[in-house]
Amino acid sequence: MDGRGRAIVLIGFMGSGKSSAGRILERRTGWPRFDTDEMVSARFGRPIPAIFEEFGEEEFRNAETEELGRLSGITPAVVVTGGGIVLRPGNVELLRRVGTLVHLEADEETLFRRVSRRATRPLLQTADPRATLVELLRVRLPLYRQAADVHLDTSHLTHEEVAEAVLEKLQSI
Ligand code: S3P
Repeated sequence: MDGRGRAIVLIGFMGSGKSSAGRILERRTGWPRFDTDEMVSARFGRPIPAIFEEFGEEEFRNAETEELGRLSGITPAVVVTGGGIVLRPGNVELLRRVGTLVHLEADEETLFRRVSRRATRPLLQTADPRATLVELLRVRLPLYRQAADVHLDTSHLTHEEVAEAVLEKLQSI
């Protein structure tokens, strides 16, 4: 792990449980938590859907990368990322310097059930959100898998169990 920080970095698709697990990990570790969606939202002074609507995805992605840049050197910490963070290879490189990348996975059915609870994901506000999810997942799953140091299937776990399993897995690497 030479040159790597000590942060726990959660990556994964929308609905994989990153935000909830991140809050529990913050409490369990006592480390500060940084959530890239919250950081971008604060930067624009708007919720994520409004940023996509007013500025577009590209501006959101630029801000996401810039906010990520502010994380270098913060260690130890819990870092929660947006599901699209892996789309830019430079983002992944940066995150790998910050800490250990934990990929929270879930099966398609579970992801869809979780994301359907709230209409806060602009990318899924389409005529056929299920088909959109399947397509996004097809493109992104290999990226998460390639980027991550550790993988965890959260489909049948509570948020507390996810946090517990993350801590256990990190102890063993
Ligand atoms: C996105 C995921 C969202 C948020 C934005 C874009 C994506 O974060 O960053 O809506 O491209 O997958 P969550 O993964 O926390 O839902």
